[in-house]
Amino acid sequence: MNKDKVRKTALHTIDVVGIKIDTRHYIGGQRVASAEAFTNTSPIDGSFLGDICRGTQKEADLAVAAAKAAFPAWAALGPKGRGELLLRLAELVEENIETLAQLETMDNGSLLRSHRRGVMPRVAMNIRFFAEWAINELQHPDFETRGHTNKISWDPSGVAVLITPWNAPLMLATWKIGPALAAGDTVILKPAEWTPLSASFFADLTKQAGIPDGVFNVVQGFGKEIGAALVAHADIARISFTGSVPTAKVIARSAADNLTPVSFELGGKSPCVVLEDADIDLAVELAVEQYDNAGQVCLSGTRILVHESIADAFALKFKEKALQIIQGDPRDEATQIGPQIHQVHFDRVKGFVDRAKESGANIIMGGEPNSDLGGLYFRPTLVMNPDPTSEIVTSEVFGPVLCLQTFKTDEEAIAMANSTEFGLAAILVTGNKERAERVAKQLVAGTIWVNCFFVRDLRAPFGGSKKSGIGREGGNWSFDFYADVKNTVVSPNGWKE
Ligand code: NAI
Ligand code: MG
Repeated sequence: MNKDKVRKTALHTIDVVGIKIDTRHYIGGQRVASAEAFTNTSPIDGSFLGDICRGTQKEADLAVAAAKAAFPAWAALGPKGRGELLLRLAELVEENIETLAQLETMDNGSLLRSHRRGVMPRVAMNIRFFAEWAINELQHPDFETRGHTNKISWDPSGVAVLITPWNAPLMLATWKIGPALAAGDTVILKPAEWTPLSASFFADLTKQAGIPDGVFNVVQGFGKEIGAALVAHADIARISFTGSVPTAKVIARSAADNLTPVSFELGGKSPCVVLEDADIDLAVELAVEQYDNAGQVCLSGTRILVHESIADAFALKFKEKALQIIQGDPRDEATQIGPQIHQVHFDRVKGFVDRAKESGANIIMGGEPNSDLGGLYFRPTLVMNPDPTSEIVTSEVFGPVLCLQTFKTDEEAIAMANSTEFGLAAILVTGNKERAERVAKQLVAGTIWVNCFFVRDLRAPFGGSKKSGIGREGGNWSFDFYADVKNTVVSPNGWKE
């Protein structure tokens, strides 16, 4: 190990574009170091960002003990008491949008301008929305059963373990942290090992907001080490995970031993269905948007299904527009897509495209790295009419790789749309309302967007059908998971007063 790395680890803080980040875990309100560290790099240029403490069973046990100890007092605060602190936390996020945006862009390579204007404001909103929802909306009217009153409540359930991915680190984490804390659970967050920085900074904000020690904890490290130790722990009440299907299966097996409830959001291979009566320009715009975040979006509509009568015109316009996408440094205002997150992931994406090429697929755009920009940039790629059974059509690539397939009838389009093991989202582009309703009804997915994409409301249910997930989050659905839903039945009899 070089001296520089030793020094940085020993100091326990690193400087990333002028922002001080503690590289230790945050457990019970204290910074806790580990003997081992892992290296964190920036996908922008591969530069070294710092050595981050690498947790094991020991830190998992510490974090669960701290979260368990903090639970009774946090639960007792009630929605209003917790809400005050959470609203302060949301304000602190807002005050630190620029810092968080800079940090996240360095760590995961997503666009700085979208972190500034979209993602980080959304992080604050995730916290505020669920805090306010718990105070104002989370209620069910009482009802009578033969004179007995049913009173429904959402009670805190215990320690929630949150395991999150790298494609939108703090955004996806707070989508879970918001409702878990608002519900009265205490939280252990394990961010992805490729993007640990924003979670560490966020931990500092929770301290500043006055969230009591142990209510929110962050542990860092590899999924197979501290991640596995956390989800196998007998003292946790909930596991919420966003990531890949294979990892979800491992977590589910582990959760089964303790019958710990799980909520899974597992990505997809969503269709973007373009009927022949569609507004072509709108359809092209929506389809090209699927390259956003360099394709590292769970919701991405990567299978573009176009009616055969308009397929040639569509492909022409699509290519014209997609070739204008500006790929580059995510810190530049003009850049539209940046790099892949990590060499391992880049190789995975490239592997899919290389194998498609070897099997004779017709790649009409991209198909190779954009090496002039650096090591991890892959060009927006379009595979024309691939074999419907090939892996490029059935597997989640999670890169800037789209497939274009054609169909003859609505029925065929629906069958193709529903043909993968996934069901996270579907986009439908059509000019006819009655047709939209009929087709949308037959699409199997947690979210259907008709003539639009990525319109998200925190009041709406969000989650995946089939292998895209277990459960729904958003509004009451989040609380149905994080809380213990209780019915108290009160008899009209037996009262002495
Ligand atoms: P992954 O599912 O392995 O990792 C996601 C998180 O799970 C990370 O925090 C990781 O440390 C943790 N983890 C891994 N193994 C674990 C275990 N045994 N116990 C507990 N936690 C564990 O995803 P990965 O390897 O980063 O990406 C692979 C593929 O997964 C991508 O190419 C993409 O297809 C898909 N993916 C989907 C995402 C989505 O938004 N649904 C996000 C990230 C990846
Ligand atoms: Mg990183």
